[in-house]
Amino acid sequence: SVSAFLLNRSSDLEILSEGYTKVVYDTDDPELTVIEFKDTVTAFRNIKRATIKGKGRLTCRVSSLIMGYLNSKGLKTHFVKADGDNGQVCLKVRVIPVRIIMRNAAAGSIVRTFGIPAGTALKHPVVEMTYKNNDLDNPIINRDHADALGIATYEETEAMIETSRKVNSLLCELFASIGVQLVDFKIEFGYTADGTMVITDEISPDTCRFRNMSDGRQMDRDRYRYDQGDIIDTYQELTNRLEKAL
Ligand code: C5P
Repeated sequence: SVSAFLLNRSSDLEILSEGYTKVVYDTDDPELTVIEFKDTVTAFRNIKRATIKGKGRLTCRVSSLIMGYLNSKGLKTHFVKADGDNGQVCLKVRVIPVRIIMRNAAAGSIVRTFGIPAGTALKHPVVEMTYKNNDLDNPIINRDHADALGIATYEETEAMIETSRKVNSLLCELFASIGVQLVDFKIEFGYTADGTMVITDEISPDTCRFRNMSDGRQMDRDRYRYDQGDIIDTYQELTNRLEKAL
């Protein structure tokens, strides 16, 4: 189904921002946006790009389910409600230009940085932060960098990391219950108009690494990164399992 908002949107409403995978629309309500998930997928600093029909519907659905679940557990997110197949009504936020990455096992960049085998278990979850800045290739930063450079204060990064740890615990448990290991994920934060810090952006197979516990199959964007195929079927399978669990 097409988003009711997008169908009825008056043409004088602005697009607030557009990225590679999502469009954020202004609405008549000063506190709300509508986010549309696109079928585009990218990898390796957006060098590799494609359009995969039906992908946006699936990342939108998974992110709605996860954000709704986090809301139900008392964590604050931007998610208000789903709107059609590819849309979400969300709180309008000012995004903090920091990405928090949580890792439970080694995959992706940590494998390259430390020269360790993919899949290496980590003694405890590892938190990383990057500065959201495409011109600088989104460098890794620490809390000193963030505070000293005016990107985010110590207080803010502490709050973001604490919430990310809670999200990690909740999602590890949720995904384990559907036979999926949460290997790592990326999470972003922003402020609503009243100054509340909330989880924003998306949490989906485009922004997490998931491994099927029974056969080690990758169930995330690595299928696109490493040309493993069956992207839609795999995202759909993950969605079906999550729908049953929630
Ligand atoms: O590439 P790397 O191993 O650092 O990614 C860690 C996690 O963060 C992965 O789940 C990846 O999908 C996610 N990520 C993301 N968006 C980025 C960078 C990383 O969703 N720009």
